[in-house]
Amino acid sequence: MLQDELIFLKERVFKELQGLSTLEELEVFDTHILGRKGEFTMLAKEIASVPVSEKPILGQIINEIKKTLSAAFEEKKKNLSPRENNSPLDVTMPGAEQYIGHLHPITYAIEEIEDIFKRLGFVRARYNEIEWDYYAFEALNMPADHPARDEWETFFISEKAVGLQGRILLTPHTSSGQVREMRKYSNEGLPVRMLNIAKTYRRQIDISHLPMFHQFEGLVVDTAASMAELVGVLDYFVKEFFSRDRRIRLRPYHFRFTEPSFEVDISCTLCSGKGCAYCKDGWTELGGAGMVHPNVLSAGGYDPAEYTGFAFGFGVERTYLMKNNLNIGDLRLLYTNDIRFLEQF
Ligand code: FA5
Repeated sequence: MLQDELIFLKERVFKELQGLSTLEELEVFDTHILGRKGEFTMLAKEIASVPVSEKPILGQIINEIKKTLSAAFEEKKKNLSPRENNSPLDVTMPGAEQYIGHLHPITYAIEEIEDIFKRLGFVRARYNEIEWDYYAFEALNMPADHPARDEWETFFISEKAVGLQGRILLTPHTSSGQVREMRKYSNEGLPVRMLNIAKTYRRQIDISHLPMFHQFEGLVVDTAASMAELVGVLDYFVKEFFSRDRRIRLRPYHFRFTEPSFEVDISCTLCSGKGCAYCKDGWTELGGAGMVHPNVLSAGGYDPAEYTGFAFGFGVERTYLMKNNLNIGDLRLLYTNDIRFLEQF
């Protein structure tokens, strides 16, 4: 009977499907059973020769079996497809997006500062974080027990002097590189044009003071280094690093290693120098500067009767925070490594 033959065929197809292991085999088998001249199709055509009274029931059975077989072929196809099987590895899936970080904002600032001074002929140097008392103080015209040393709130590493150059300390300012740099060139009477950017340390911590911070220090020694050039260099830096409309002001100050000495202020970003709640009088401090003291030139091996020099030293962190109205209320945020803070830069 046709009905039995159809059911028999269905069961055979189910069994044979299980044995197939590639999509190609499945495709051939599909055509062989359900194709235009396939076994099932041919068998189904025999409905034409059954008595009319049996046709409706048989027609229904044929449709049901065809649906079941088609679904079984589909299911098998899914299982054999690499994209839709249950393998844990799906090479076609889009990858998880990588988190791309960036350099620390202070590293960006250092790169930019270096780049600006390079254009003026300054050569980047890096001097010691661990330093002798001699280079940090003595050679800078601050003899042992001089009260001016107190301002540098120094971390000492050795309790007593180690050899002729005194105690070992964490350098509290980049000025300790001045005499080291001069001694590299003074023997041959060559000029100096140094930009020393390095880590510095002080026993201070509050919203505007860090125990570890960076300074950038410019030093020029030549036969005609002048105040006018110092002002020109600082003005160029300020206009490049901040913006064209920012101005600088030199305020008389006192450092033992420069004479005369100044503090350098910059016109406030918020009020353009008019005076506001942030800056009070329209200016904010950048750092110290001055003409190199004759005793320091001598310590570096230059004859002060023949050579003059100028120097300046600014804090990188504070300078950076005066850029772009960042107005960050607490310097320490820069080093708490909180990604929510850092990723904003
Ligand atoms: C000096 O350190 C001098 N060596 C600068 C100098 C160089 C003067 C050459 C003349 C010639 P002062 O102590 O003011 O100066 O520090 C300079 C700058 O470093 C400050 O204006 C400030 O921006 C930064 N600074 C100082 N202490 C800290 C601190 N604890 N945390 C963050 N920044 C600081």
